[in-house]
Amino acid sequence: MTERNEAKTGRDDALLMSYEDSANRVPVLWIHGYPLSSMLWEFQVTELADIARQITPDLRGHGRTEPTAPPYDMALFADDCVRLLDHLGLEGAVVVGGLSMGGYVALDLCRRHPQRVAGLILASTRAGADTEAGKAARDQAAATAKDQGVEAIVEGMLPKLLAPGTAAEQPDLVEYVRGMMLETSVDGVGGALAAMRDRVDSTGDLPGFDVPALVLHGAQDQLIPVVEAELLAGSLPDAELVVIPGAGHLPNLEQPDAFNDAVRVFLERYYED
Ligand code: MLT
Repeated sequence: MTERNEAKTGRDDALLMSYEDSANRVPVLWIHGYPLSSMLWEFQVTELADIARQITPDLRGHGRTEPTAPPYDMALFADDCVRLLDHLGLEGAVVVGGLSMGGYVALDLCRRHPQRVAGLILASTRAGADTEAGKAARDQAAATAKDQGVEAIVEGMLPKLLAPGTAAEQPDLVEYVRGMMLETSVDGVGGALAAMRDRVDSTGDLPGFDVPALVLHGAQDQLIPVVEAELLAGSLPDAELVVIPGAGHLPNLEQPDAFNDAVRVFLERYYED
């Protein structure tokens, strides 16, 4: 898929200059989860560079993107991503990938801007809305972030993010994820929690999302059970499900080879010239 190009573009007309330009690779927009950042996609950015042009924003209030005053909602996050694509001159359709909350944003983007979506990669996510108990837990977490800081959120959530084996065998990865989470601002945490609490149920829209889709899920996800991925893949018109052994909620970091292999096969199947 990687192509070298040649062009008579040197200062003297005789020079046939050889070059690579990732602009002719399939564009993939990767949307991170909560409370994470573009650092989530480190192993995709490095390992899939030969096949994809990868765009990895930090959503507002996360990573290096400044917070704005809440409220935030999924439509705001989705529109932010589309504005970024516009800025990059990517006015056609791209492959939209999202993990967990990033998947909620991806589904919203698909609903609001279907002409911008050439395919979906949905990791560790679900289509349904929060239950009443889930909504109350979001408000509780937002109050904790305000009163005790983002550290309290991070320490409460981190043990549930990774599979038990990952946490035991990859201490550097645990620290990497902790550092990424700690970069989230209090407003980012509060805004994302409210956006997740108020998100709509996308289940009824899934049959209408008529683009190729890859659904990926860690077999040991403690936050979102595998059955949610089965429901997603079963309701989308053209989806494949890959369950990744030995991975929890962050399969792309915990088992990057298995995750990247599945993405590579998907991109080659549907988007190779
Ligand atoms: C995420 O990882 O983005 C969130 O945990 C998803 C959620 O809480 O629903």
